[in-house]
Amino acid sequence: MDSLTAALSSVRVTAARYPLLVTLAALLVARRLWRLKLRRLRTLPRAHERVLVLGASSGIGRAIAHEYAAAGARICIVGRRENELNLVADECANRFPKIAATWSSDRQDRVLAFSGDFSKAEDMLAVRDNLEQKWGGLDTLIVCAGVSALRPLLEVAGLERVGGAFVPPQVDVQGVQRTVAAASAAIQGNYLGPLVCAVIFIPFLSTTSRAPSILLVSSLAAVVPAPTRSLYTSSKASSLLLYQSLAIEHPSVAFSYIIPGTVEGDFRASAVDGGRVREADPNKHGLKRTVVAKRCMDMIDNGEKAVFMPVWYGRVAHFGYWLAPSLFEWLASRKYDFKAH
Ligand SMILES: NC(=O)c1ccc[n+]([C@@H]2O[C@H](COP(=O)([O-])OP(=O)(O)OC[C@H]3O[C@@H](n4cnc5c(N)ncnc54)[C@H](OP(=O)(O)O)[C@@H]3O)[C@@H](O)[C@H]2O)c1
Repeated sequence: MDSLTAALSSVRVTAARYPLLVTLAALLVARRLWRLKLRRLRTLPRAHERVLVLGASSGIGRAIAHEYAAAGARICIVGRRENELNLVADECANRFPKIAATWSSDRQDRVLAFSGDFSKAEDMLAVRDNLEQKWGGLDTLIVCAGVSALRPLLEVAGLERVGGAFVPPQVDVQGVQRTVAAASAAIQGNYLGPLVCAVIFIPFLSTTSRAPSILLVSSLAAVVPAPTRSLYTSSKASSLLLYQSLAIEHPSVAFSYIIPGTVEGDFRASAVDGGRVREADPNKHGLKRTVVAKRCMDMIDNGEKAVFMPVWYGRVAHFGYWLAPSLFEWLASRKYDFKAH
């Protein structure tokens, strides 16, 4: 009793001396307790979770599919390349925990694969109807599909910078049309795809799951500008704000957004504007796909809203740009090896 009184009085003294510190600590503890309370696995055990990953034929989406399969969830993967998708389906089937075989008689329905375009309504309606028929609903939607764009906008239009001037000095009609075509492809892959899926899957999740969740794989480029990436950054920013707004319109669905910096892999192969890759050694550096995939799973389980990866790098870049825009513009030019003159 004496020691309890002593502890309480020392907390009181500390609180009086460092009120800000104690308030911060109390807020962190409250946040942690709130998250524990929210832990989704309590209401929805992994073996019952029905997960749809859009954009799972390669990269981060493929790693996410592996993680869910290894944890014993039911998994449906979507992408346009059928051969790649079938390989990922086999990899997922091989990763299921042995015990999962005894969970139900519908073993063959634990991994589903559909080749299709996530920006096409008919393809995604077919996915929804199949899920309804095979699983009776959906709990977790992961929107990972996306396309890159790598060139300065005026280069796409056919203008090269030589010194301080453009060659040719003005753009022609074909140049404008080429730019619009590249922008349309970026919008299709990074904005319309997420939009089509939101319209189709929000009502489906809401009516068929007791813990509906949507995770959008966004990008640091959606919140911090980058040279040679204007089409990519602007199209990714649109889908992030779309989903952030939808989260307010649909509070019964848990929305999460992962905002990673560069991730290892072949994302640049999907560039909708062609062109030369400027970064040195672009495919080997960056975050590991499996690390990003595990973090996505944690976010959904814990009901976390937005996560930057790496945390400090992302937060500093995000806030730093608004505090000191010129400094961060210079840093972005260095990162992308871009010289305006
Ligand atoms: N790599 C990075 O540095 C990085 C950094 C931050 C954020 N991200 C984001 O992470 C996500 C995944 O990128 P990643 O690095 O894993 O690249 P990736 O290996 O190229 O994966 C992209 C996936 O999206 C699918 N996809 C693209 N367009 C599609 C469409 N219209 N319909 C259906 N599926 C489509 C691709 O499959 P098919 O080609 O078979 O259709 C592929 O499975 C993207 O949204 C990207 O913006 C990437």
